[in-house]
Amino acid sequence: MNNGLKGQSHHVADIKMFPTFVRSLPDGSENGEFLALDLGGTNFRVLLVRLQGHEIDIQSKTYLIPQRIMLGTGTQLFDHIADCIGKFVSEHDLLNHSLPLGFTFSFPCQQEGLAKARLSKWTKGFRCEGVVGEDICELLQEALKRRTNCKVEIVAVVNDAVGTLMSAAHVDRNCEIGLILGTGCNACYMEYLDNVGTWKHDDEKDHHPRQVIINTEWGAFGDNGCLEFTRTEYDRELDTFSINPGKQVMEKMISGMYMGEIVRLVLERLANEGLLFRSVDHESALFERGRFYTKYVSEIESDTDEFFRHTKQVLDELQVENYTTEDCKIVKYVCTLISARAAFLAAAGLATLINRLNKQDMTIAVDGSLYRFHPRFHNLMCLKIKELVKPGLKFKLSLSHDGSGKGAALTAAVSLRLRSLKPLPTDSSQHSLTTQETVSVRA
Ligand code: BGC
Repeated sequence: MNNGLKGQSHHVADIKMFPTFVRSLPDGSENGEFLALDLGGTNFRVLLVRLQGHEIDIQSKTYLIPQRIMLGTGTQLFDHIADCIGKFVSEHDLLNHSLPLGFTFSFPCQQEGLAKARLSKWTKGFRCEGVVGEDICELLQEALKRRTNCKVEIVAVVNDAVGTLMSAAHVDRNCEIGLILGTGCNACYMEYLDNVGTWKHDDEKDHHPRQVIINTEWGAFGDNGCLEFTRTEYDRELDTFSINPGKQVMEKMISGMYMGEIVRLVLERLANEGLLFRSVDHESALFERGRFYTKYVSEIESDTDEFFRHTKQVLDELQVENYTTEDCKIVKYVCTLISARAAFLAAAGLATLINRLNKQDMTIAVDGSLYRFHPRFHNLMCLKIKELVKPGLKFKLSLSHDGSGKGAALTAAVSLRLRSLKPLPTDSSQHSLTTQETVSVRA
């Protein structure tokens, strides 16, 4: 983490520790009507968020991003997004409204302003050509111009971890860490600017507190080989067949996009060695890559008696025949090992941040399907964090609802308020926020 923060070592560091332009947390006085976008999980969502202090009304619609678009060109991706926004805006009768938009874009980005973020690499299932190195706000704004006639202006781009933190901090002043355990895995926290060697945007007239939210991008921990001592043959096989081999090593050991597949690889080997499902048919989906979903792990681990109702349901879905109760026990045991390892790794990362911040009482806002639906993840993490934090530090993991939508809207709200305090730009090329602008409300 220190390497990522330092100017001299940032370019070679795996954990990038990107400074966002979010400099302080919301205070509950944010108002207005905003569009928010959420791109980066399994689905793409458009949201209409109405903020009035602590009251928030959200309407949203989920759109599918077909795989051909996830692996197509950037233009196709942003045109698709713009089309969805166009439909949403006209369905909500908002075509003539000027709407500010907060964009939750959950990929590693080097931010140059609150509404200027260059993609540093794709992660999870995405690999769209021509986007790495580009400003994603500009790409979206151009697509909106090309494909719609809505009056939408992107005023902030945030990572989902940052959105989660912003949204939780809106109601809990002790919250200074945001964590995502979903399709991917990542964390962010509030850091003092004096520790951020890569921060080059200081302004003499800047009255913000000297701190900024850091998007750690810790999913890339291990990309330099430092986790080899604990990776297994299953991790290596999963990596080889992924679309980004060698990248996001820690994320691949933790997050929802990969956990089911690791379990499947273990079960496959046990079956091939005759230790499980003695008469399994190789046509079964158990032998197909990507067919053992992480939601199965959560379902299987929620079986608490000898009837193995969920486990049997999953095995039936995978067309495994003639399994025994002993097989069900083994399948569940494998799931518990893989999920406990994931929870402990995530806990190790979190404990590092908690120790670094060194505050007496700390709330960690958590979002993501893995954390939300897995029956033991929360408890396993708490157990491990307790072992790893400095004595006397108290912490609470708190599920955050709709961090992506609400967080993006809150960040947008704050940025607009900030803008209204500044002289209006004189030339249209300065239409979006300049690189010096940051979000601060609590100061
Ligand atoms: C991305 C992060 C994101 C995380 C959770 C990772 O793959 O690199 O930016 O926060 O997934 O969605």
